[in-house]
Amino acid sequence: QNAQTVRLAVIPGDGIGPEVIAEAVKVLEAVTRDSGLAFAPTHFSLGADRYLATGDVLTDDDLDAIKGHDAILLGAVGGVPGDPRLVGANIERGLLLKLRFSLDHYVNLRPTTLFPGIASPLANPGEVDFVVVREGTEGPYVGNGGAIRQGTPHEIANEVSVNTAYGVERVVRYAFEQAEQRRKRLTLVHKTNVLTFAGGLWKRIVDAVAAEHPEVAVDYLHVDAATIFLVTDPARFDVIVTDNLFGDILTDLAAAISGGIGLAASGNINPSGEFPSMFEPVHGSAPDIAGQQKADPTAAILSVALLLRHLGARELAERVESAVTADLAARTGATRTTAEIGDAIAARVAQNQ
Ligand code: NAI
Ligand code: MG
Repeated sequence: QNAQTVRLAVIPGDGIGPEVIAEAVKVLEAVTRDSGLAFAPTHFSLGADRYLATGDVLTDDDLDAIKGHDAILLGAVGGVPGDPRLVGANIERGLLLKLRFSLDHYVNLRPTTLFPGIASPLANPGEVDFVVVREGTEGPYVGNGGAIRQGTPHEIANEVSVNTAYGVERVVRYAFEQAEQRRKRLTLVHKTNVLTFAGGLWKRIVDAVAAEHPEVAVDYLHVDAATIFLVTDPARFDVIVTDNLFGDILTDLAAAISGGIGLAASGNINPSGEFPSMFEPVHGSAPDIAGQQKADPTAAILSVALLLRHLGARELAERVESAVTADLAARTGATRTTAEIGDAIAARVAQNQ
């Protein structure tokens, strides 16, 4: 056979990370069997456990090695919140954000679907099927800030939001392309009435790019109003494009209305292909249930579907999504282990071969 081999960097991480990644890899193997697409995984030991063992968070060698891959699958990283041994590590900035910035993951893609059979905390959610395109390399998360007189009554702390025309335009263009392939509705979320400099830039660029997409209906919401509509009328959304911070917050709300953190998948995407894109469940390492086979691996498995779609294997991605949809619809409330859920989805994927 003439299989195309994808070099996959696998970062299982901490806590439930390795448990859910084992199931995601199981489903990936099941769906690609005899498909002409093969994955050659390299495991990277990164996260809180690695830091505690070696003192390293992400070395230049790690980063170079990861760059030599075609894509990245990540579980979750981070230890028990409040662990005093991890205070100096800053895994979030030193590992996750460093990967996103170094690999220029300017699109953080977070689809939200309320699958049949899944209970939403909303009484009447309607058809929920939208995707948040969150900017991933700018905004208030770039680390452009500092503090002086720390710990004194005269402390000054700055955290400056960085927005470039280049950075906004490329993510807005990506969002319009998504809208073209979906229901052709795009909503810009910002706070243009108060954040007039950044908001004005976002608004002008959306208006300019909109002129090239006459079929896409464009809407604007302030971020506070967006939280209202995500709860009262989530069905109105198709593609939401927004900045790094607003997107971080809105996507947790989106996960909550659509059945919870165990189902939310995401992609950190470098659309140019210059560096590997990274796919990961939205949830963290869940130390409260780690090592007990209690974690739902569905978010990690849906992240594999995003990975396959990114690589152009659309049919394989759809097969994973159908298997997940069927598994969710068949859930009875009986408790299954992480591995049992992975086995069930892998079996459905193999059946639909
Ligand atoms: P978390 O997402 O790990 O857990 C929040 C709650 O959701 C917990 O009760 C947990 O048991 C539950 N939960 C999470 N994933 C689940 C799953 N797949 N199935 C069933 N239940 C699940 O968030 P938390 O507790 O704030 O953070 C724990 C650690 O994870 C911290 O060190 C944090 O920094 C890190 N973290 C890492 C992320 C990443 O790697 N991308 C994202 C968020 C947090
Ligand atoms: Mg978050």
